[in-house]
Amino acid sequence: MNKFPKDFLWGASTSAYQFEGAIKQGGKVSSIMDRFDEQPSYPKGITGFKEASDHYNHWKEDVKLMSEMGFKSYRFSISWPRIIKNKEGEINKEGIKFYNDLIDELFKHKIEPIVTMFHFDIPDFIQEIGGVCTNEFTKQFEIYSEVLFKNFGSKIKYWLTINELNMFALAGQIIGVVPSDQKINSWQLMHHLNVAQAKAIVLCRKICPSAKIGPAPNISTVYPDSNKPLDYVAKLNLDMVRNWVYLDIVCRGEYSPIFINGLKKMGLEITITEEEKQILKNSKPDFIAFNYYSTMTVKMPTEESLKNTKKDQQQGLSMPGFGESVKNDKLEKTQFGWEIDPVGFRNTLREVYDRYQLPIMITENGIGARDVLEEDGKIHDNYRIEYYEKHIQQMALAIADGVEMIGYMPWSAIDLVSTHEGISKRYGFVYVNRDEFDLKDMKRYKKDSFHWYKELIKNNGENI
Ligand code: BG6
Repeated sequence: MNKFPKDFLWGASTSAYQFEGAIKQGGKVSSIMDRFDEQPSYPKGITGFKEASDHYNHWKEDVKLMSEMGFKSYRFSISWPRIIKNKEGEINKEGIKFYNDLIDELFKHKIEPIVTMFHFDIPDFIQEIGGVCTNEFTKQFEIYSEVLFKNFGSKIKYWLTINELNMFALAGQIIGVVPSDQKINSWQLMHHLNVAQAKAIVLCRKICPSAKIGPAPNISTVYPDSNKPLDYVAKLNLDMVRNWVYLDIVCRGEYSPIFINGLKKMGLEITITEEEKQILKNSKPDFIAFNYYSTMTVKMPTEESLKNTKKDQQQGLSMPGFGESVKNDKLEKTQFGWEIDPVGFRNTLREVYDRYQLPIMITENGIGARDVLEEDGKIHDNYRIEYYEKHIQQMALAIADGVEMIGYMPWSAIDLVSTHEGISKRYGFVYVNRDEFDLKDMKRYKKDSFHWYKELIKNNGENI
């Protein structure tokens, strides 16, 4: 029996603000990400997103490289501030043309475009009215969604709503989607995003009925740190706030009573209108896309133990009385401290499929590393090959277990700028020749993993 379906969507991912650069070209208006590096909270000594990998001026060459690797799909995000100019919804025709040209070029190379509608780059005109923290956000996202579906709906088969909706609530200030001086109720913010997502799904059904649409959160299995029963309570708690609440709302149409009750225990609540309840009930997705980097291990915290750790999308999540993430000494780590857990990937795939029984698409998975460009123009990233080999083997086992999968689009197709750790944390199959502050020539170089992935796609993963 084949390990992967015949028409499996092998490819890779990027996001607009981390990849395109050209923040002042093509009629794009400003976004919070354009100046994230100027915020006091942004780490010192690393680049921001102004130039990124200059994909905006290299897109044809970049698609050619993807085609050479044999990509069947390419997941990218459309930049909201390239499409809409202001809160009146005025359209930037140049932005529409840029993405139409990109999509057509992908089709020319037989690559299926998989479009993320929104990947962190909030336009300034939205931030000025409160960003993701107000109800107004849902109205603005609806205006934007309609423009996307009307302009690209005839071509796009797979839509992804909001990238890592859960990370807006859990690590919003670290990834820059919430300004560090803005006071927020993370759960109300999450609710606005859930409503925005639901409205987009409803609109998609109306405007492009033959398209498929799904969410794209960051999901990972949560292990209890020990066999102490209380650590298992912490596991259930963090599983809920890290994973299930975001998928339950879109797949089941409501929040779990345990979640709502848990908020009350923390002295928090979310305001949900009757109209919103109805929208949330009637916006089921066609598939689940999710990003997977590693697993999480938790214990029941004490006051003292909560004072530690570095926090971001993959580490350090803790909640008083609820759970605290701790290091898993059974797992190796990347150069940037993220744990590596290929078997956890199989576990996560199984849990998600078992719970919702919808087809799954992986929209991110990968290893950030300090790759070195050798004098002969080669990049020997065997650690990346090893990372992918192990994860893809586990994905094959998950499929053999019975998980229904549509595709695998790891992070990232080509080097781009990390959310908060600069360009030196590279993820691509292709090296982009620039440093944190020296833009050099932005030339593209194929890494060893490029050739490895090409071979794997050619064999539809049978050689893994
Ligand atoms: C995901 C995001 O959280 O992880 C990406 O969707 C991000 O935008 C990726 O780049 C890797 O994280 P980081 O922080 O290393 O860039």
